[in-house]
Amino acid sequence: MSREEPPPPFGNFQYEIYLRGLADERPLLPLRCDELEAAARERLAPESFEYVAGGAGEGRSMDANREAFARWQILPRMLGDVSQRDLSTEVCATELRAPVMLGPVGVLSIVHPDCERAVARAATEVGVPMCLSGAASTSMEDVAAELGDTGTGWYQLYWPNDPELAASMVSRAEAAGYEAIVVTLDTRMLAWRPRDLAGAYLPFLRGEGIANYTSDPVFRSRLDKPPEEDMQGAIQQWISVFPNPTLDWDDLPWLREHTSLPILVKGVLHPDDARKAVDLGLDGVVVSNHGGRQVDGSVASLGQLPLVVEEVGDEVPVLVDSGVRTGSDVLKALALGARAVLVARPWVWGLALGGRQGVEQVIKGLLADTDLTLAMCGLSSVADVGRELLVPAP
Ligand code: FNR
Repeated sequence: MSREEPPPPFGNFQYEIYLRGLADERPLLPLRCDELEAAARERLAPESFEYVAGGAGEGRSMDANREAFARWQILPRMLGDVSQRDLSTEVCATELRAPVMLGPVGVLSIVHPDCERAVARAATEVGVPMCLSGAASTSMEDVAAELGDTGTGWYQLYWPNDPELAASMVSRAEAAGYEAIVVTLDTRMLAWRPRDLAGAYLPFLRGEGIANYTSDPVFRSRLDKPPEEDMQGAIQQWISVFPNPTLDWDDLPWLREHTSLPILVKGVLHPDDARKAVDLGLDGVVVSNHGGRQVDGSVASLGQLPLVVEEVGDEVPVLVDSGVRTGSDVLKALALGARAVLVARPWVWGLALGGRQGVEQVIKGLLADTDLTLAMCGLSSVADVGRELLVPAP
């Protein structure tokens, strides 16, 4: 048997860019996240831009997320053989080539017509898993078809207040080949979001982002007429099933009984909540404040990460999202105990500006940055990233 060549290091993406420069080519998109966001602002309809960029209230939780990364600095060590780097890891039986996943983002049809299909193709091409949003603009079966045999998908559940519908969604995800269920706990209702309210804009009320509902047999059975004939009726039904203010911890075992897939909870910030999830038999925790979109003035995800890791990190993988923008951010999260990170807005800007290729550039850039920074810290494996890599910023 011929030995398979190891794939080229992620960091080589920089040479691809520099070599194309010799033919006077430039990268498709800006490389920095703030510049990407500024370019997307020019490209998108104002209400679409605000929906993606915005957060709850005054945006203080979004600011806190970025400030939490700035509170730590990396202390690199010199030399050592870093010619071969291993960024691979494993989360709940999903193998990752690098400790980065595409976090769930709903309503991508307001950003690009190819929406989740483009994202699934990009994720598959680059080799990172995609967590499909429960509020996607494309049904989970259609996205699974794009992921094919080589792509990896997880399914994010917004737990509707109709248990039969919840069971149907979870069993569809399992049948379609998703490898884990991520149940988002922080969005049992929508937050006060002034940037959306100012434009009186909620995409769901315009029939965007409800494809996993309109394609669901249980959801459809609740309608007088199919959504193809009466979208307003489907939207009304969505409005009645989405909020779930009575959902409680003792409901989680019900979900556990309805799927054999690993279940991760997303939106946990307090270590005691992580403890509850683990004691109920769930398989992983995503420390997240939803990119600052739910509780304004909340603690930063990264700030809570070490506390959650201390509580449950020996028992289940702990992931983190909210504010990850660079390779250094990825390494800081790993050093504080995360198994992997989820990233959201940066690749959404990539999608807005360049469709599938735009998502690819953003993710390849983040992986290259992570790979190169790891090597320049004198480390050749993400498994060796520990707390000693960080010092508090002065
Ligand atoms: C989100 N997020 C999200 N989360 C989730 O569990 N289900 C969803 O459908 C969505 N939808 C969504 C839409 C948009 C436009 C954004 C920006 C975010 C939250 C997302 O998964 C993630 O927690 C944060 O966005 C991560 O922060 P960054 O990387 O955007 O800072």
